[in-house]
Amino acid sequence: MSAPINTPTTEIFRKDLFVGKVAFVTGGGSGICKGMTEALMRHGCDAVIVSRTQSKLDEAAKELEAATGRTCYAVAGDVRKPEDLINAVQKTMDKFGRIDIVVCGAAGNFLSPVEHLSYRAFKTVVEIDLLGTFNTIKACLEPLKASGNGVIINVTAALQYSGSPLQVHAVSAKSGVDGMTKTMAVELGRYGIRVNGIAPGPIEGTEGMSRLMPPGMEDGFLDSIALRRMGQVRDIEHATLYLASDAGAYVTGTVLVVDGGSWFAQNGPLGMGLNMFLAKGKGNKL
Ligand code: COA
Ligand code: NAP
Repeated sequence: MSAPINTPTTEIFRKDLFVGKVAFVTGGGSGICKGMTEALMRHGCDAVIVSRTQSKLDEAAKELEAATGRTCYAVAGDVRKPEDLINAVQKTMDKFGRIDIVVCGAAGNFLSPVEHLSYRAFKTVVEIDLLGTFNTIKACLEPLKASGNGVIINVTAALQYSGSPLQVHAVSAKSGVDGMTKTMAVELGRYGIRVNGIAPGPIEGTEGMSRLMPPGMEDGFLDSIALRRMGQVRDIEHATLYLASDAGAYVTGTVLVVDGGSWFAQNGPLGMGLNMFLAKGKGNKL
């Protein structure tokens, strides 16, 4: 088993990497994307976090500022609504005058067999994950072009690399995000904008894991991960700093899978665990 990473990001990457830069992060008020925002801020960035819940964002912004000494601005918006993103970008430009790094992390997921997944439920997840990513990038495009060294990181997943059961909505959406990443990279490279994805594996302590790991699925779970441990938000922070900094200057159109070697091991832990779950006849009760 590999040990969890305790090394602070500031002992791996220079503290002033992003001084003078501004990050725009959807989903930045919680979980993985809050960690990504904190990592960027610890290295000198100011940030704007966007999601639906102003009170949650305000709380997160306060914590992020206290932890990093940088400025974090919280703007409520629903990534399904282009007008909300246009408003958030305008407010960002009024406050900071620039956007250099965009993290598209807002997402929704839950387990559901196709039989129980309503037409609206499928549409909802695709609208948040896939359309939300497009809406965010489109709204941020002109400031990113002006940055001259823009970076887009789409937070995707690895579940779409295999036929992960009970997640046809998220698999469809994240597959689309991966396609968008490649195409945007090709189109936007001429403006100096790099577009990459980060595909987290199972990250402990997150909303995503609590939703995707029903009771009774824990048995043998760690054995299906090559490194035999859950991922930590810190693991995604390191990947973010690599892709957003000059360390990744010649990397675009790729998805960095940060999953401890799990999706390809026995069809991925979720695939394997959920298949067992389904085989026991439990899936239809969700
Ligand atoms: N199983 C099956 N269907 C579900 C569901 C579940 N667990 N949760 C919601 N739905 C359905 C609803 O019934 C509704 O469909 P209907 O109108 O046909 O009944 C549809 O999905 C939309 O639900 P609603 O609650 O109106 O959507 P919302 O826009 O308020 O919330 C969600 C979006 C459903 C994705 C919600 O779970 C959410 O806000 N998630 C954000 C956090 C998250 O998922 N984090 C993990 C990221 S990996
Ligand atoms: P999380 O904390 O629930 O993050 C999702 C964020 O998206 C929340 O802050 C939520 O805030 C925001 N959001 C949801 N719907 C939105 C909408 N319509 N408009 C704007 N914001 C919206 O979950 P997480 O587990 O950390 O996941 C973060 C990212 O990692 C997601 O892209 C997820 O798919 C990906 N991922 C996670 C894992 C994992 O192990 N956790 C694995 C693979 C991939 P509001 O509720 O305030 O809107």
